Amino acid sequence: MTIHQFNYPTVMLYGPGAVAEFAARLAGNKPAGPLLLVTDPGLVRSGLAESVADTLSRAGLSVAIYTDVHPNPIEADVVGGAARFRESGAAGLVAVGGGSPMDVAKAIAVLATHEGPLSRFDDGKGGDRFIDQPLPPVYAIPTTAGTGSEVGRSGVIICADTRVKTVIFHPDLLPRIAVLDPELTVRLPANITAQTGMDAFTHCLEAYLARGFHPMADAIALGGMEIVAEYLPRAIEQPDDLDARGQMLVAASMGATAFQKGLGVIHSMAHPLSTRYGIHHGLANALLMPPVLRWQLDEKRDQFTDDLLRRYQRIAQLIGRSSADELPRAIADLCAEVRISVTLPKLGMQVEDIPSLAEEAHADICHHSNPIAISRDDLERAYAHCM
Ligand SMILES: [Fe+2]
Repeated sequence: MTIHQFNYPTVMLYGPGAVAEFAARLAGNKPAGPLLLVTDPGLVRSGLAESVADTLSRAGLSVAIYTDVHPNPIEADVVGGAARFRESGAAGLVAVGGGSPMDVAKAIAVLATHEGPLSRFDDGKGGDRFIDQPLPPVYAIPTTAGTGSEVGRSGVIICADTRVKTVIFHPDLLPRIAVLDPELTVRLPANITAQTGMDAFTHCLEAYLARGFHPMADAIALGGMEIVAEYLPRAIEQPDDLDARGQMLVAASMGATAFQKGLGVIHSMAHPLSTRYGIHHGLANALLMPPVLRWQLDEKRDQFTDDLLRRYQRIAQLIGRSSADELPRAIADLCAEVRISVTLPKLGMQVEDIPSLAEEAHADICHHSNPIAISRDDLERAYAHCM
């Protein structure tokens, strides 16, 4: 099987068996120490972590494994990993998993080489200026097709002192190599495939609609949505379709590449739903998109520019409809096609929670790049549309 390489936005190795190709290349570079493989307990249970570790070992690489990674990573995960990194004399980090192990691996790169606490490096406070030592290389092997963290330059960790989810950012946190190997995602259950896939779709949609001039991100976002619309239903119907699985990994990387332009109100509204009710991030996005886009079309029509309406229409056309007004319906149909049929109230969302959800969503920065300005009251009305 041919492994394809392309170098945007980082070195990407694509194809079934890409992990073995990655291992061979890394071994050829003769790293100065072992590699710390950062993963989570779920991936250990599934056998995927061991399978990747075996592939690295067979190529002649020395591997240490670190698995103390929470689904919403906390600073202790990073502190433990940094200690392990130093003790083992590691020369680099290999993140295997979804967003959490990738976030933790990136933060370990920082705390292995810099004095903590992690809150010192809070990107919101310009903390990247304290990252002044060379960082060990991070390599990323995603096992879901959604977050796209493998092409991201930041990690999100809950800091111990502030208890706040904090973005740690530095250009050198961009993984040196992202390995997109569809053999790692064929065993993902249908619901996780659908939810993570719709997260990738939402990244593309919100990036394409985000305010600002970024024609490159726009083009990538459109391409990503086209891929999700074609291949996500296929990955659900035929879980072992390597082509569909591979295309979804590409779409996830495209989504995260595109959202350098910005995201929007849907992500701001999704975040409190996950913290409050434990709703999967991608599922929250999927369920919010149709009503929140509908609400904007109906109640914010006067603020739509011709360009924004054209953009709605362009996305609708990508998924088989013709007009901007049909976009919410088209996305609802896509959700149904990938068997997302639950509703937010069924997942625990309650009318009386709306004011506080709106408060939290308003404090979230994602909506700052929404094409239409969003107030706290707007968010209450948008949430009410989801009931
Ligand atoms: Fe997302």
